[in-house]
Amino acid sequence: MIVRPRRLRRTSAIRDMVRETTLSVKDFITPLFVKHGKGVKDPISSMPGQYQFSVDTIVKEAGELWSLGIPAVILFGLPDEKDDTGSRSWADDGIVQRAVAAIKESLPEMVVMTDVCLCEYTDHGHCGVIINGVVDNDATLELLARQALSHVRAGADFVAPSDMMDGRVAAIRTALDQEGYQDIGILSYAVKYASAFYGPFRDAADSAPQFGDRTGYQMDPANLLEALKEAELDMEEGADMIMVKPAMPYLDVISRVREVSLLPLAAYNVSGEYAMVKAAAERGWIDGERVMMEMLISIKRAGADLILTYFAKEAARGLMIDD
Ligand code: PBG
Repeated sequence: MIVRPRRLRRTSAIRDMVRETTLSVKDFITPLFVKHGKGVKDPISSMPGQYQFSVDTIVKEAGELWSLGIPAVILFGLPDEKDDTGSRSWADDGIVQRAVAAIKESLPEMVVMTDVCLCEYTDHGHCGVIINGVVDNDATLELLARQALSHVRAGADFVAPSDMMDGRVAAIRTALDQEGYQDIGILSYAVKYASAFYGPFRDAADSAPQFGDRTGYQMDPANLLEALKEAELDMEEGADMIMVKPAMPYLDVISRVREVSLLPLAAYNVSGEYAMVKAAAERGWIDGERVMMEMLISIKRAGADLILTYFAKEAARGLMIDD
């Protein structure tokens, strides 16, 4: 007798009934870039469909995302000035702080997250302060805590440290608690690889390192056990949610981290993953819409609960049509 799994694939209604993984707009966190100016919506050439916004236009964009049912955004800032410590990152009138306040004023229910890192704010482009030619871990912690605190004072619901310094989740947790922000959460970029897939982002956020690379603090793509160790450390330090980044080339990592964590798990479908799909679709080499959906469902199937993705708006529209 032939076993016939195809019986469950015979019609679209049957396939709908037996589908194991579903994608929802509630899974999406949309990354947005904010810069100074007014009425700005500058296209990012390596990420077709993505923009650098000013505070006024980012509020409008967040409103559109919210009306599509997308619950959350994560903000990245392009400061007016950079220096060696990234001091504009913790300025109360800094660009991210202003954007957070403006979005929360207009959309109080929307979950506003902020990326906490120095690389967009330092003149050398590294994620921490440089002492004697190296990114100094412990000197960076206090600056990250300051930055996180200023984002939270502006109204952020979650801070998301992406710098990969050791001990930063504990440092940020302590700083937030001391100031009475015990209810504000940390989404930690716990497992972040030193990846070439961040290329387009570094154009978008003007954050490429001016010397060397990030292999001294971000993870070696060859390592899996180290991912489990990083996840465990951030859970112990008090992270409320953890993240694996990038997503698509690291589905095995997502699935293993899922097994060892009881926290909500996010995956970051990064700029290079987005750009590849857009570029190939533009050439007519792939069906961009279908590849997008297949990527997103695969990230969920691997075990992610939440997906940070530049596709959020497009996928939300797609999901609306499907329903
Ligand atoms: C900041 C940061 C980066 C990304 C998110 N936060 C860049 C980097 O580490 O070089 C990458 C996101 C993307 O590629 O979409 N440290």
